[in-house]
Amino acid sequence: MAQERSVVVGCGAYLPETIVTNTQLAERGVETSDEWIIQRTGIRQRHIAQAHETTSVLGTRAAQAALADAGLSPADIDLVICATSTPDHTFPSTATQIQAALGIEGGFAFDLQAVCAGFVYAVATADRYLRTGGAKRALVIGAETFSRILDWEDRTTCVLFGDGAGAIVLEARESPDQGTRADRGVLASCLRSDGRHRAKLYVDGGPGSTGTTGKLRMEGREVFRFAVGSVTDVIEEVFRATGTTAEDLSWFVPHQANRRIIEASADKLGIAREKVVLTVDRHGNTSAASIPLALNAARRDGRIREGDLVMIEAIGGGFTWGAALIRW
Ligand code: ACO
Repeated sequence: MAQERSVVVGCGAYLPETIVTNTQLAERGVETSDEWIIQRTGIRQRHIAQAHETTSVLGTRAAQAALADAGLSPADIDLVICATSTPDHTFPSTATQIQAALGIEGGFAFDLQAVCAGFVYAVATADRYLRTGGAKRALVIGAETFSRILDWEDRTTCVLFGDGAGAIVLEARESPDQGTRADRGVLASCLRSDGRHRAKLYVDGGPGSTGTTGKLRMEGREVFRFAVGSVTDVIEEVFRATGTTAEDLSWFVPHQANRRIIEASADKLGIAREKVVLTVDRHGNTSAASIPLALNAARRDGRIREGDLVMIEAIGGGFTWGAALIRW
């Protein structure tokens, strides 16, 4: 029997114009060095949004690029999901503001909050709506302005993050090959969370507690240990569910937090280093935006092609984590 599949029909991204290099951070008074940041994280620079560049502004730009790539117009979209932890406002959702900025008058839009794992969660969620007839075409966006929630006095966190947005368009299509793994689309996804890890990565404010936005706090070593030690379970589950192995992958596009975490995870899973898409050097950790930014970079430079098997994976505050396998 023919099955519905959520097929990627376009992708796009947007980075704010202002670039701040590691050396510039040190010159501006952060007690750090280019050498330290590159050696520990692989990050060389980050993009920082200007005051008028809110998360919805970045997200709208990325969404427009994804729509243009897909050859679609805003009216073709009936679902907008924006993965973000840095919304313009407590409410309404950033997704509804992007919907309005694009001129979409139908369908529905909502934010999804799973911190750095937000894009994987959003892909898995959109996939459920598309495959069960709840929507026909979805804009799945990851957009963040983490520079707004950084403590610029804390060198252990402020050097790691940046601003940006990325988006894909997913379209419900009947799969010609009875829904085998040869067909295009999201083949499987696996999501996990464990709220007991809250204290390792969190923001110390919020509307219901302090009444302030708060700043990001992190126990870097603990996050590192968990990211490398535990999150491969979701990838292994997706391999099992689809009968695939690391060898079958065309590309591994993980959350871009830290080069050492990415390479250690790939090694543990037996994924060849040349299949790993790395963009963290160019934009730092952009949380939910990092995977679509990396997908877009690899699509634009010709690495990801139609038919390729692409694994996305991320871990975020909570902890939350997840993976999805996509036949591009
Ligand atoms: N510049 C220079 N020195 C620094 C800096 C900095 N920016 N930050 C910390 N140091 C110093 C520390 O003070 C310490 O000095 P000391 O030995 O005199 O006390 C020394 O460097 C080592 O500090 P550690 O914290 O032990 O450094 P570590 O090797 O663990 O690296 C890092 C820190 C990069 C944060 C690492 O723990 C890491 O990558 N953790 C993962 C965190 C991460 O990627 N989070 C992303 C968010 S999570 C997510 O996206 C889901």
